[in-house]
Amino acid sequence: MEVRRVAVIGGGTMGSGIAQVFAQGERDVRLVDVSEEVLEAALGTIAGSVDRLIRKGTLEEGAREGLLARVRTSTHVEDAVGDADLVVEAVPERASLKFELFERLDRAAPAGSVLASNTSSISITSIAAHTSRPDRVIGMHFMNPVPVMRLVEVIRGLATSDETTRAVVTLAEGLGKTPVEVSDYPGFVSNRVLMPMINEAVFALMEGVADAESIDTVMMLGMNHPMGPLALADLIGLDTCLSILEVLHQGMGDDRYRPCPLLRKHVAAGWLGRKTGRGFHVYD
Ligand code: 3HC
Repeated sequence: MEVRRVAVIGGGTMGSGIAQVFAQGERDVRLVDVSEEVLEAALGTIAGSVDRLIRKGTLEEGAREGLLARVRTSTHVEDAVGDADLVVEAVPERASLKFELFERLDRAAPAGSVLASNTSSISITSIAAHTSRPDRVIGMHFMNPVPVMRLVEVIRGLATSDETTRAVVTLAEGLGKTPVEVSDYPGFVSNRVLMPMINEAVFALMEGVADAESIDTVMMLGMNHPMGPLALADLIGLDTCLSILEVLHQGMGDDRYRPCPLLRKHVAAGWLGRKTGRGFHVYD
């Protein structure tokens, strides 16, 4: 399967990063969001990130214009996916939203195209069940910040075909990423391992074991993590962390995944991390 045209649904942090990586990989990209403002901000984020890559010599200056021109935006899902070889969904982590979107994508995208989800934890099998082509539905889980992180977790739903999996693995490799194939299970591998660590750091904060700065410093200097768990939660978004923990808690039926009350409190307050200027840390 050749992938020339890619539609990315959702212009947030992950969607804009995914669009950028495909444009860097010489694909024509349609970036879709319901909000013009979000799309405009996404183009700004992509331009900023491309400039950063040029400054450090990862990208050539001459590539800038063509790369940015390959990303076109749209507020209409149906228009944008009509000729797509691959659709990558990156909308917020709400199962009902994704199910409804995949029903629309299935109706509007070419019959032979692949529908991928960048979901952090929602079951690919259940997303696929909302389409007439479960063999062509797969998880393509990028990590934040997408242009920098090398991993793509490739998640096979129960009905995902070998052909679809092979095509997505080859595609990810062609984008300079390292794909790792995993089965459809709550949180997959990445978030099943990462989120309990973040949650435990929030419990430690709530119980007064140390302040946020100290907890992060312990993990950075003691374990050589590039950033501490609370700063990482702020980067991911505390609402997203909470949604993933809910899926883990419910899906595994085990209280060790119960979200920390302090995490719930921050989300309720709208302190969602970097994107709102405040999470466990405060940002300019
Ligand atoms: N675009 C382009 N380049 C970027 C960038 C972006 N958005 N963000 C950072 N960079 C580049 C910088 O230019 C820099 O390049 P260089 O080292 O070659 O000079 C490099 O990345 C490091 O950036 P900085 O020096 O500005 O900052 P740091 O050294 O603090 O690194 C970081 C930032 C890459 C985010 C690093 O802290 C890190 O790796 N953190 C952990 C990230 C992580 O764990 N992500 C996974 C989250 S989980 C997830 O996404 C799954 C989801 O389902 C929740």
